Amino acid sequence: MFDHLSSLPADPILGLLATYRADENPRKIDLGVGVYKDEAGHTPVLQAVKEAETRLLRSEETKAYVGPAGTAGFNTAMQELVLGAGHPALVGNRVRSAQTPGGCGALRVLAEFANRAKEHATIWVSDPTWANHVPLLGNAGLQIKSYPYYDRATSSLKFDAMVETLKQVGEGELVLFHACCHNPCGADLSREQWQVLAEMAQKQGFTPFIDMAYQGFGDSLDADAYGLRLMAESVPEMLVAASCSKNFGLYRERVGMAMAIYRDADSADRGQSQMLNVVRGNYSMPPNHGGAIVEAILTDAGLRANWEAELTEMRERINSLRSGLVESLEKAGAVGDFHFIQQQKGMFSFLGITPEQVQKLQQDYSIYMVDSSRISIAGLSRNNMDYFCASVAEVLES
Ligand code: LMR
Repeated sequence: MFDHLSSLPADPILGLLATYRADENPRKIDLGVGVYKDEAGHTPVLQAVKEAETRLLRSEETKAYVGPAGTAGFNTAMQELVLGAGHPALVGNRVRSAQTPGGCGALRVLAEFANRAKEHATIWVSDPTWANHVPLLGNAGLQIKSYPYYDRATSSLKFDAMVETLKQVGEGELVLFHACCHNPCGADLSREQWQVLAEMAQKQGFTPFIDMAYQGFGDSLDADAYGLRLMAESVPEMLVAASCSKNFGLYRERVGMAMAIYRDADSADRGQSQMLNVVRGNYSMPPNHGGAIVEAILTDAGLRANWEAELTEMRERINSLRSGLVESLEKAGAVGDFHFIQQQKGMFSFLGITPEQVQKLQQDYSIYMVDSSRISIAGLSRNNMDYFCASVAEVLES
């Protein structure tokens, strides 16, 4: 039965990690997968998470099933984190959600849910978008089309072309937006641009589907949700996939939320019954631990304050690495203008070099990044910055 199966190439992002781990060069640098690292190159467990886990260990009384939606406490706290307490959609009782295994779980559940509402509906994704969006959404049955987003030649948004393409999108179609910290390019929409898109969604009737994987990594928890919240005030229906992997550092615990906003409370109840049925037919229900940690942090003032401080520290480190990188590339004499890196947000930017140059950096210098030249900024540090910039400068000259 399985003999005819051919082997597939390694995942473009996760595959890099295995090659990096096998590399024995002591100067090797991993700028591949989007995982936060501190100055020492570690991905720490946040103190707020450790404290929440300690409390949970003491207070947990059962391991009985939680149900397909996860706990009500998690869902309420996360809805408020994403939408902001008092958002009109929450006040109107039009929001329903489910705790999911990571942001990927949320994307997949929402895609299957949308496919139930309209089979093979078209979803428009940015060009470029995160590589895993395509299988997560496409394997659920949605048809993928793309809209222009980022101009590699000028390292800036192609907003006019994006608007022009999205003018043809109407009711029954979905448009995927990155809430903040665009993966892979780091170029985000301005508030004015969100306003234009919200008006288009309202007028044309398409359904926004927003991926919020990096809330708190751009400017702040609230500022990063600005476009999402505006959109949710402008349209009757919307989907949101939220991830707790990065902002809570809970990568391997797999915790996220699939959220839908409906026209009214009645359609919300019907929609939620479908969403939970999608979950039941996939993985039955989410694992509890990660969601319990998030709930404990968000519902305790002290833990929450500690978490927000740790999140701020991660964000500020990345932002200072961005300016440090631009300065060091200049100092190393790297050909080109890299100032755009300083303006971009979140974990990633494209360095803007060719796939051949990316390969050369890997082979000759043990510097690992995705073929597109996407770098995960947090993999840089004061220790490896000069080596990285000197290597890039050499490769650009060769
Ligand atoms: C990334 O883009 O590197 C992260 O979102 C991790 C992943 O699963 O690809």
